[in-house]
Amino acid sequence: MSRSRKLVAGNWKMFNTRADGVKFLDAIAGEVESVGAELLLFPQSLIVADLVKHWRERGKGSLAFGVQNIYWEEKGAFTGELSPILVKEAGCGFALTGHSERRQFFGETNESAVRRALAAHKHGLKAVFCVGERLEERDAGRTFAVLEEQCAPLFKLAAKAPDDFVVAYEPVWAIGTGRTATAAQAEEAQAFLRKLLEGAWGSSGADCRILYGGSVKPENARELMAQPNIDGALVGGASLEAGSFLAIARAAEG
Ligand code: PGA
Repeated sequence: MSRSRKLVAGNWKMFNTRADGVKFLDAIAGEVESVGAELLLFPQSLIVADLVKHWRERGKGSLAFGVQNIYWEEKGAFTGELSPILVKEAGCGFALTGHSERRQFFGETNESAVRRALAAHKHGLKAVFCVGERLEERDAGRTFAVLEEQCAPLFKLAAKAPDDFVVAYEPVWAIGTGRTATAAQAEEAQAFLRKLLEGAWGSSGADCRILYGGSVKPENARELMAQPNIDGALVGGASLEAGSFLAIARAAEG
């Protein structure tokens, strides 16, 4: 994996049933091989193993799967959490961590988000570690400070970049609101993140892919992903339907 290949990931959140997922996979089955970008889906965890199996049987080309959350312990009395062992067993290669909805509704902290991300790598999975400022933080001129705070435990707990570590910049005010960051706003924040990663981890940090997320659609995907520090997209709403997900994936090719 490297920065030369864009990564387009669909975060289905708590949408898409098993039947919806199967229909989606059948719709993209003949297309994936001709897409240059690397493709990744985060379905609900209860259906991910079924979808992996379905893709192996029916799909063509490479499509990765991941879970939307992961715990740092392998087993124990942790009601409701997802063991990294079982995530791997389900056929997943990735785990989303620190998504703003986890932070906003489920008490995720900067430190717990990082612990989840590093646990994923310890178990041979890859993290997509999400960061991003809220509107009031942007308005107060604190965007860079917030990104620094969100990344601080990462640099404290990991001396170098885990292999193929992925960061997603998702300004909270752009998620599910239809209000996308402009390409210039996204690029400014992502260039700052790259400096942070490089400052802490050297060239392995600078080589991490940084995705943009927040109201990415077929209409704005090309301009966003053409920015020098945008290595792909993390897509919510527009990833639920096969046609728009594929259109965004194709936009990654320039
Ligand atoms: P959105 O969600 O594309 O619907 O704004 C993005 C995300 O939450 O990852």
